Amino acid sequence: IKTVGVLTSGGDAPGMNAAIRAVVREALAKGLSVKGIKRGYAGLLQEEIVDMDARSVSDIIERGGTILQTARCKEFTTSEGQKKGADICKKHGIDGVIVIGGDGSFQGAQKLAALGINTIGLPGTIDLDIACTDYTIGFDTAVNTAMEAIDKVRDTSTSHERCSIIEVMGRGAGYIALWCGIANGAEDILLPEKYDYDEQKLIDNIIACRKRGKQHHIIINAEGIGHSTSMARRIEEATGIETRATILGHMQRGGSPTCKDRVYASTMGCYAVDLLCQGKSNRVVAYRNGEFVDYDIDEALAMKKSIPEYQYEICRNLSI
Ligand code: F6P
Repeated sequence: IKTVGVLTSGGDAPGMNAAIRAVVREALAKGLSVKGIKRGYAGLLQEEIVDMDARSVSDIIERGGTILQTARCKEFTTSEGQKKGADICKKHGIDGVIVIGGDGSFQGAQKLAALGINTIGLPGTIDLDIACTDYTIGFDTAVNTAMEAIDKVRDTSTSHERCSIIEVMGRGAGYIALWCGIANGAEDILLPEKYDYDEQKLIDNIIACRKRGKQHHIIINAEGIGHSTSMARRIEEATGIETRATILGHMQRGGSPTCKDRVYASTMGCYAVDLLCQGKSNRVVAYRNGEFVDYDIDEALAMKKSIPEYQYEICRNLSI
C-alpha cells in the first residue's frame, strides 16, 4: 500500500473527524500518502479528491460533523458506479480506502474490494445498529446530547404535570431510545424491536402512574415507531392529561464528540491503517467484548443484533 483514501458516507456522526485525523496521521507516520475523498461515494464518482497532510486535520478532533462531508449515493449501488469508483481510485493511485459509515457504506467497500481496491470499514453512526460491534462512532455523543435535552423537557413536564413524548433518532433501531430511557428515568420506552402497538396498555400505565403520585410521564419514542404528535393527541384525549410531543431530530447528530467517541474513533482510525499496512482488505473494525477487533465485511454484514433483554426488562421497575 502506498496511498490511502479516506471517506465518510451516510449520516454524519460526532467523532468522524477524530477518525479522519487518526487515519491521516497514522498513515503519514507509516510513510504512506493520504487522499481525502469528499462527499462519500458521490464525491468519489465526481473525483472530488484532495491531498491531505498532517495540517489538513489540525483542530478537528473536537469538532462534530465531518470535514470531508458526506452523502448517500444511489449511483454507487449499481455495478457501473462501483466499477467507475474503482477506476477513479486506480487513476489517483489510491490502493487502499478507509470508509467511515454504516452497513450501507460497508456494502460499497465490499464492492470496491472485489474490484481490487483494498478497503477497511469503520463503524460510524449514531444509531449503534451495526451488528458486529458493541460501539459505533457517534453513539456516545448522540445519547449524551439527547439525554441532556430530555432532562430539560422533563423539568417543564414536571412543572406542568404533563405527559411528554420525546422522539429520538435511530432509524429502525431502538438503542438511542433504550439508553435515553434508562438514563432519563422514562416511564415508558417504545422501541421498534419491542413495541406491540397496544396504545391502550400505554394509556393504562399513564393513568396508573398518575395515581401513584407521579408528576410527569416521560415516554421515549424511537423514530422507528414515530407518529409522536398524533400519539400525544390520542393520549391527551384518553387520559385527560396534557400531553406534548418533542421530536429531537438532527440536533442529536451534531456537537463536539465526547471523550469516549474521540478516543475510540482515534483508536479505530489507527487500527484501520494498520490493517491496510498488513495487506488486509474487506475488513471492518469493531469493538467487541472490551477489545478492538476486525471482521471480514461479508461476515459482519451477515451478523444480527438485538436489544439487550435484561436492560429492557429493568426499565419497568426503575420507573415505579
Ligand atoms: O443514521 C443516522 C440517522 O440520523 C438516523 O438516526 C435517521 O433515521 C437518519 O439518519 C436521518 O437521515 P437524514 O439526515 O437523511 O434525514
